[in-house]
Amino acid sequence: MTSKTHTAPLPAPLRLGVNIDHVATVRNARGGRHPDPVRAALLAISAGADGITAHLREDRRHMRDDDIARLKAEITRPLNFEMAATDEMVAIAVRTAPNACCLVPERREERTTEGGLNVTGAPRSLADRVAALKAAGIRVSLFVEPDVKVLEASAKLGADIVEFHTGRYCELALENDAAGVAAELSRIVTAARLAHSLGLEAHAGHGLTFLTVPAIAKIPQIVELNIGHFLMGEALFSGLAAAISTMRVLMTEARGV
Ligand code: PXP
Repeated sequence: MTSKTHTAPLPAPLRLGVNIDHVATVRNARGGRHPDPVRAALLAISAGADGITAHLREDRRHMRDDDIARLKAEITRPLNFEMAATDEMVAIAVRTAPNACCLVPERREERTTEGGLNVTGAPRSLADRVAALKAAGIRVSLFVEPDVKVLEASAKLGADIVEFHTGRYCELALENDAAGVAAELSRIVTAARLAHSLGLEAHAGHGLTFLTVPAIAKIPQIVELNIGHFLMGEALFSGLAAAISTMRVLMTEARGV
């Protein structure tokens, strides 16, 4: 569908999308309202996030429908609505009107999104769902492996964005597999160049940490990173001390001794 080539000057600034799903995971462990993912989104934005990503899974294991509606109503930066390519999710997306939808594969038994979307062998319904989102004025992102055939198929489907799955690269980095890391980075670099030449905006995410982010951030065609789990885990270490100190102060003040 698209044969446009793109020669915009590089590098573009790199945006940070913060995925807040796991604030909802912690909230749901107890039910109730605390910690509120919308409060986390507002804090993320005030700390420098350029956008917020939230994944409404079919089983609602973390984000819930009203979280998505509240995010859309309350945040001042773009909402990237991550979802499976199903009719139910397309209907919610059209109702919510996020800035972008990131289509991901979803399996009930997985702990997190494993692998990229099947774009090359995708059923006709994927094209229909991409078209429905685009008709509603929503930018469409496909979460994909950094692979030539997958990118060509993504462009044909009419996607605006491809988000490269960086999970494999991050796992290899954790295992200190230098050769594996170099090979995977080279795949991502090649894919980013191809995406750019096909007119697809290139994003990346999954498993990124302080250690693994620099090599991806250096790839000039990649203009957005989406990061969640590591930031939420790290927030315990940078924020736990302050929460405990506040609790101690409140207890001591109330007791008066
Ligand atoms: N991008 C996509 C499409 C994802 O599915 C996820 C995980 O929800 C992320 C980015 C963020 O990954 P992580 O939570 O490992 O940073």
